[in-house]
Amino acid sequence: MARIIAGVSSSHVPAIGAAIDLKKTEEPYWKRVFSGFEKSKEWMANAKPDIVIAVYNDHASAFSVELIPTFALGCAAEFPPADEGWGPRPVPGVKGHPALASHIAQSVILDEFDLTIVNKMEVDHGLTVPLNLMFGSPAQWPCPVIPLAVNVVMYPPPTGHRCYMLGRAIRKAVRSYPEDLRVVVMGTGGMSHQISGPRAGLINSKFDKAYLDGLSRDPKKLTRISHMEFMREAGAEGIEMVMWLIMRGALDDKVKEVYRFYTVPASNTAVGHIILENIERKTKAGRPAPVRQSPSKGRRAAAHAPSLPSPASGGGRGGGLVVGSKR
Ligand SMILES: [Fe+2]
Repeated sequence: MARIIAGVSSSHVPAIGAAIDLKKTEEPYWKRVFSGFEKSKEWMANAKPDIVIAVYNDHASAFSVELIPTFALGCAAEFPPADEGWGPRPVPGVKGHPALASHIAQSVILDEFDLTIVNKMEVDHGLTVPLNLMFGSPAQWPCPVIPLAVNVVMYPPPTGHRCYMLGRAIRKAVRSYPEDLRVVVMGTGGMSHQISGPRAGLINSKFDKAYLDGLSRDPKKLTRISHMEFMREAGAEGIEMVMWLIMRGALDDKVKEVYRFYTVPASNTAVGHIILENIERKTKAGRPAPVRQSPSKGRRAAAHAPSLPSPASGGGRGGGLVVGSKR
């Protein structure tokens, strides 16, 4: 059985990626930011997840204004880095996990979350910068990554509550995947930032720190923050913080906070970061306890589950999920 072991929230400021690519990480301005992720890289190296689900937003790289999916799940086998105007970042291509991604798509859509299934997509700094912060700059990313792109760039973005509930649905989906995989969920973006206009550069550390507290101890309270409140308190782009609630919703109610970091500024944003672990219940044999599922719920899901082509059995084009294809 697959299980989510931890959740991580992390900034995805593009200037952080540029600092890495231009080898400026040791400069005093950037060292302050990167030093806050040294412990995080150690934690990740020890956690050794089999798969990362990375919740991020695309910045008009894969999706133009012609097509704005609210939630788009990457089901492909690979996701090359996008050219964001100065060539693709010199980072490895992201390998996906079509089998688990397709399973999540099926489970979550049958749970009435209408995800967009993406079988071909390039990924921008929103995804690659957090991977650098958590994994460093290896020749290849150490595990497959399933991208989940969320619209926070064009009105209306999803509510924090909707994001949290999607996290819950993802948790259920992962738990029902038969292979024994350890999964880390990343929520990226935030914290307070306003890129343009008279309030450009707005930083509200009090709001940000309270949000980190809420993620750790009372996430349901955060689900009641409205879009207007996010924008008023944390700036127009502070709305990215709703994505962290997908990560938090995917975790158990009670979690152990193992690390936190906050600094300002990076570019013109606040950088906030937290690592939360699920508290593992163990059997007497020392193995993780099986998750109990209501038999009625299980039967209902099975009754509704159509027979979809599985990428694991060669059913998806390029490793992605194809539903209703006539090819
Ligand atoms: Fe962003």
